Amino acid sequence: MRLLQALRREPLDRPPIWFMRQAGRYLPEYMELREQHTFQEAVHSPGVAAEITLQPIRRFNLDAAIIFSDIMTPLEAMGLAVEFDPGPKLEPMTIQDIARLPDFDPNRVDFVAEAIDKVRVELPDGVALIGFAGAPITLLAYLLEGGASKEFLALRGALKKDPALATEALCKVGKAMSAYLQLQVDAGANTVQLFDSWAGILSVDDFVDFALPAARAALEYQTVPTIYFAPHGPQLLPHFDGVGATAYGVDWRLPLGEAWKLIGEEHPIQGNLDPAVLLTNPARIRPAVAEVLAEAGGRPGHIFNLGHGINRHSPVENVAAMVETVTGKDR
Ligand code: CP3
Repeated sequence: MRLLQALRREPLDRPPIWFMRQAGRYLPEYMELREQHTFQEAVHSPGVAAEITLQPIRRFNLDAAIIFSDIMTPLEAMGLAVEFDPGPKLEPMTIQDIARLPDFDPNRVDFVAEAIDKVRVELPDGVALIGFAGAPITLLAYLLEGGASKEFLALRGALKKDPALATEALCKVGKAMSAYLQLQVDAGANTVQLFDSWAGILSVDDFVDFALPAARAALEYQTVPTIYFAPHGPQLLPHFDGVGATAYGVDWRLPLGEAWKLIGEEHPIQGNLDPAVLLTNPARIRPAVAEVLAEAGGRPGHIFNLGHGINRHSPVENVAAMVETVTGKDR
């Protein structure tokens, strides 16, 4: 599998490509299924989740599928109820409540393993399946706020107020995500990605003291290659290495070559086309993709991706132009 080869830094004639949120609202066939199912129904129905996972694979020449689910899904296995509108909404919790959550019960998320099982049967040879989880500090941010926030002051406040209790809560969530990733690997995921969407709001010190050890704990016992993705925080790149992942995903803020130097060129890197480029047209997209490829310079260990999830208003023909620029016409 091309993705796994890149994760081993084997030389390749072109980098593998997949992109974050590749199963989602920019695809008319996804919107069609969403007319019949709410987001949560789709996530909880293995047949529907598998179908949505496969939709972008049928349409484009991609090297990986990512299981259709959400970073909030495994919190159900700790007894929490999450709603989506369209982002996650839940009752805000205190740091004490989080530290005392029940342990992760894999039986409560067996629908994810079942969906992975169904995807595996239909996935073309050579296409890898990616499992994923949210990183502990990102999940802590959502749990404390009860949803999205601009500044995540509740999180930053909790780290300052009682560092020991914050660490306890992070350990609880980290252990759960480790088990959740393991469940996906056991079901057939070839690699797993940890999404640390909000680590970038932290100071370098708070990242190193809190986010990093928690992310490391979620990844350290995995038996497949791992990818750690943290956008919006170029100040963190020189510290990524401490997470102990196989590869690191970066956003578009720095040119890929520069980001790669800061992370360390011995690690594979994933990224980093600005998703905004997909809102333009193929004539602009092709050179922008070529620029990312030129930054990677054909070096082994580059995985082509967007710098963050695709925007829902991206025209499908623009996505096709991006994929074709990376792959040529054939798989
Ligand atoms: O990448 C994929 O195709 C796999 C599926 C996936 C989803 N969410 C589906 C989804 C993945 C990997 C995620 C990760 C996720 N979810 C993250 C980390 C990545 C990132 O964006 O930083 C985060 C922070 C979430 C939380 C979340 N879930 C948000 C903020 C939203 C609203 C998104 C929006 O764009 O408005 C969701 C809902 C969600 N998760 C949707 C999808 C396809 C939209 C749901 C819909 O159909 O209404």
